[in-house]
Amino acid sequence: MFRAVIFDWRGTLVTTLTDHAWVQAALVRLHRDTHSAQVDKLVAAIRAASGEPDRLEGPGVDSDAGLHRRTYLRVLRDAGLDEAAGDLVRERVQAGAEDVHFPQAFVRAVLAEFTGPGDVVLDPFAGYGTTLVVAEQMDRVGVGVELLAERVALARTRLHGSGRIIEGDARNLARFGIGPVDLCLTSPPYMSAVDHPENPLTAYRTRDGDYAKYLDELGQVFAAVARLLRPGGHLVINAATIRTGHVVTPLAWDMARVAGRHLVFNGETYLWWDEQASWVSGDYCLRFQKPA
Ligand SMILES: C[S@@+](CC[C@H](N)C(=O)[O-])C[C@H]1O[C@@H](n2cnc3c(N)ncnc32)[C@H](O)[C@@H]1O
Repeated sequence: MFRAVIFDWRGTLVTTLTDHAWVQAALVRLHRDTHSAQVDKLVAAIRAASGEPDRLEGPGVDSDAGLHRRTYLRVLRDAGLDEAAGDLVRERVQAGAEDVHFPQAFVRAVLAEFTGPGDVVLDPFAGYGTTLVVAEQMDRVGVGVELLAERVALARTRLHGSGRIIEGDARNLARFGIGPVDLCLTSPPYMSAVDHPENPLTAYRTRDGDYAKYLDELGQVFAAVARLLRPGGHLVINAATIRTGHVVTPLAWDMARVAGRHLVFNGETYLWWDEQASWVSGDYCLRFQKPA
């Protein structure tokens, strides 16, 4: 999977990923040319690109993540991929079948605003564990719950410190001995109100989907989150309003309504992507707080 490796001056590795499917997926998400010949050309160019190591000035050491990223992105740029595509490829979880991850920059911004070092951060729909990975990078203590064993296993390979992920059902959140927590940051699995027989809360593996029941169960998860939060702690939900044909499901607003029964709604941030997926009408970051 790793075909190009750049050594910096202290010998630490910066890797570039050259998996054909990932490069193609990044281009699809950016609505770029995804013809097979074009993807082949890019992958070959990344493999061929040789990186001149960047250097820190003075007596610095090479533990600078920003420097590593710049070096990596320069190689991709030389190969014809820009920064947005480079980040999408770089953050893609290895071997993850589906690309559902948060961008790390989004998690970093939320953790910087609502937590300090040592704080406990919960993600009850942890997926590939991006919240927990960034929590570790920022000296927070991450704890997550994820239903799918394969995602739990992958997330564990990404955690090297205080982060912990529990294989389980978020609908049983109160039973896992978690808490108290300072911040809950999560993106629950989505559902549209029409034409959606798959149940999001079984990871779409059963066909007993029912929008009203789904919202009710999500509300119960948020009620459990509210009990685990310290007074003054925050819940931040990433949720979208989503299109199915001509119908738009106000999923973000419906989630805000059920979460708002247990916590105080503090406002929303609109997430503005350079290119929005066609099925997303709007993408939001919804903020709630437990009264101090
Ligand atoms: C949108 S993804 C979250 C992705 C995550 N933010 C990341 O960066 O990797 C939602 C996740 O919730 C999981 N899930 C679905 N139902 C669940 C449940 N009842 N309990 C726990 N996790 C569940 C899905 O398997 C999926 O990985």
